[in-house]
Amino acid sequence: MSPMASSPSYYFLLFLLILSTLATGSEFFLPKEKYTHLRMFLHEVSRGPNATIYTIAGLNNKSPYSYGDVNVTDATLRQGPEPSSRLIGRAQGFEIGVDMDRKTLQSVVTLKFTAGEYEGSAISLLGVVFLRTTSERSVIGGAGQFRMARGFSFVKLISSTEDFLIAEIDVYLAHHAKFLEY
Ligand SMILES: *[C@@H]1O[C@H](CO)[C@@H](O)[C@H](O)[C@H]1NC(C)=O
Ligand SMILES: *[C@@H]1O[C@H](CO)[C@@H](O)[C@H](O)[C@H]1NC(C)=O
Repeated sequence: MSPMASSPSYYFLLFLLILSTLATGSEFFLPKEKYTHLRMFLHEVSRGPNATIYTIAGLNNKSPYSYGDVNVTDATLRQGPEPSSRLIGRAQGFEIGVDMDRKTLQSVVTLKFTAGEYEGSAISLLGVVFLRTTSERSVIGGAGQFRMARGFSFVKLISSTEDFLIAEIDVYLAHHAKFLEY
């Protein structure tokens, strides 16, 4: 045993640590679980001065769905598929080409709501997406009105050009309403 581990001050510090852990613990109670379905539309600008997606790293492979490429994205979330429809938030995160067959992307994205009923709340998604077909990601958590969220979400491509992509996002989640302020 090292001299540090056996010295009385080590045990005293350990004791203080345990005491402080116990001293700050307290119970809290969750409001009833809620089940919510949300539908929104993702609008991604792929090119030009207002682009919302950028490739920040990669293996210099020019083909789509490139293995090893990393994209960061800050796309807008709108109520409808029309670019003029109401802005309700942003989808912020990153996508990584992790599939050697180049068919799928690993996506880590938080849907942040900035207007409407869910303003200030957020939902975090994780999973694999196939850009040309409907794909499913897990809801791995949430904030605000979506605390302790779990569930699943679908993303379906509505239209895409070289410059612009629109997709429908459906989220089905179990969560607890906001119950504490910070
Ligand atoms: C980029 O956004 C600005 C400000 O919203 C807008 O005035 C401009 O027309 C946009 N440019 C393009 C190419 O969409
Ligand atoms: C990155 O974005 C480009 C342009 O939108 C797209 O063609 C490519 O498949 C994306 N790659 C990844 C790994 O997300």
